[in-house]
Amino acid sequence: MDLSSNALGIGALRKLNKQILTAGAGYTKDGTTTFTCDLVYCHSDGRNTVNPAYRKSPNWYGGAFTGNKCAMCHDNPPLYEGQSHYVAQSSMGKESGHMIGIHYRNNSKGNNRNGFLGYSSSGSTAHGNSAVSTTISCNTCHSGIVGSTKVDTYAMAGTSSIFNCGSCHKADSRTPLQAGEITDAALHVNGAKNVAFAPIDFKTKAQLSVAANALGWTRNGDYKADNSYDYADLRVSAWDAQTKTCLTACHVNQPNITWGAQLQCVSCHVNQ
Ligand code: HEC
Ligand code: HEC
Ligand code: HEC
Ligand code: HEC
Repeated sequence: MDLSSNALGIGALRKLNKQILTAGAGYTKDGTTTFTCDLVYCHSDGRNTVNPAYRKSPNWYGGAFTGNKCAMCHDNPPLYEGQSHYVAQSSMGKESGHMIGIHYRNNSKGNNRNGFLGYSSSGSTAHGNSAVSTTISCNTCHSGIVGSTKVDTYAMAGTSSIFNCGSCHKADSRTPLQAGEITDAALHVNGAKNVAFAPIDFKTKAQLSVAANALGWTRNGDYKADNSYDYADLRVSAWDAQTKTCLTACHVNQPNITWGAQLQCVSCHVNQ
């Protein structure tokens, strides 16, 4: 078996097996019923840098991806330093990430009513009722690659993070603990980091009282009324793969917000 990246006439994906430079390396073969890939790009964290992290594949003969399947090659979501899916120590003084919702633990009831909106599939809630708040999931930014219906709820599994879906989503929940689905395998594990925003109106109960300042957002109903929400057209969000910047209402349309860089509240809320 030859998985090396420096042989002649090989495909682009194999060229990404950067650590394998000779035939017979990068895998474990034990008898006729055990074969695992150990150092191949396809089972890596996808960073595609000089030193990516590799995972051992399941056994080619009868092995399987189970449970938190999506974490069996890369983390779910990627956790390494220098990306923004999840940032353990953000400059805002706490962990931050692109999961669940905008300020989902801090959406207040507002308008002289005290307290925080909770989580439920009905009513005026920060997360759980898609009629007023959209869930941020893999599909939000990797539309067409990951499906929108069976949303992965294994993100941050086994951690004490506030983003660990499994701390609320159990086997018998309305939205159970479940692995997501790849809907276009041609874009997944193709050697490129494919980003595409979901063609949706993104909704949130994070509503600033001064609506006019929140660039890109439209208010449906009155500030903080039970059935009101703010929404933004995610179709017009733009990702620049060269500069790794995103121009989107989620960042109050502030420019130069770079993937992997640290943020302050004012990065988005300038003048607010
Ligand atoms: C807010 C948008 C957003 C969401 C939500 C999101 N991603 Fe990403 N993801 C990105 C961007 C942007 C990149 C490209 C980064 C780059 O080019 O360096 C990326 C790249 C990746 C990569 C390539 C490897 C890497 O680390 O760069 C993987 C794997 C990945 N995402 C998995 C996921 C999974 C799994 C989820 C859901 C749990 C998810 N993403 C949710 C924006 C997002
Ligand atoms: C603090 C508790 C809590 C956490 C943490 C949490 N959820 Fe939920 N979520 C709920 C509740 C409550 C509901 C409503 C009941 C249901 O559908 O299970 C819900 C509903 C949902 C729904 C269905 C409604 C919709 O928006 O489409 C999805 C999808 C979802 N959650 C995804 C996630 C994902 C992904 C994570 C982790 C990144 C997560 N949730 C983390 C409590 C939580
Ligand atoms: C066999 C290993 C493997 C498994 C299992 C896996 N991924 Fe990936 N994934 C990768 C690699 C490698 C990349 C790097 C980007 C590329 O080459 O396409 C990636 C990239 C991604 C990306 C970034 C978009 C892109 O470019 O493809 C998303 C989103 C993603 N994976 C989601 C998932 C989800 C959701 C699951 C579970 C249903 C999953 N992955 C399971 C290997 C895997
Ligand atoms: C990545 C961009 C971003 C960052 C960083 C950010 N916010 Fe926000 N914030 C938003 C968006 C988008 C909204 C929704 C705007 C709207 O529709 O009115 C929002 C809404 C709010 C709201 C209204 C919440 C509610 O209860 O309805 C408050 C308060 C707020 N942000 C405070 C902060 C503070 C404090 C920080 C720093 C710890 C911060 N934000 C960092 C994007 C951001």
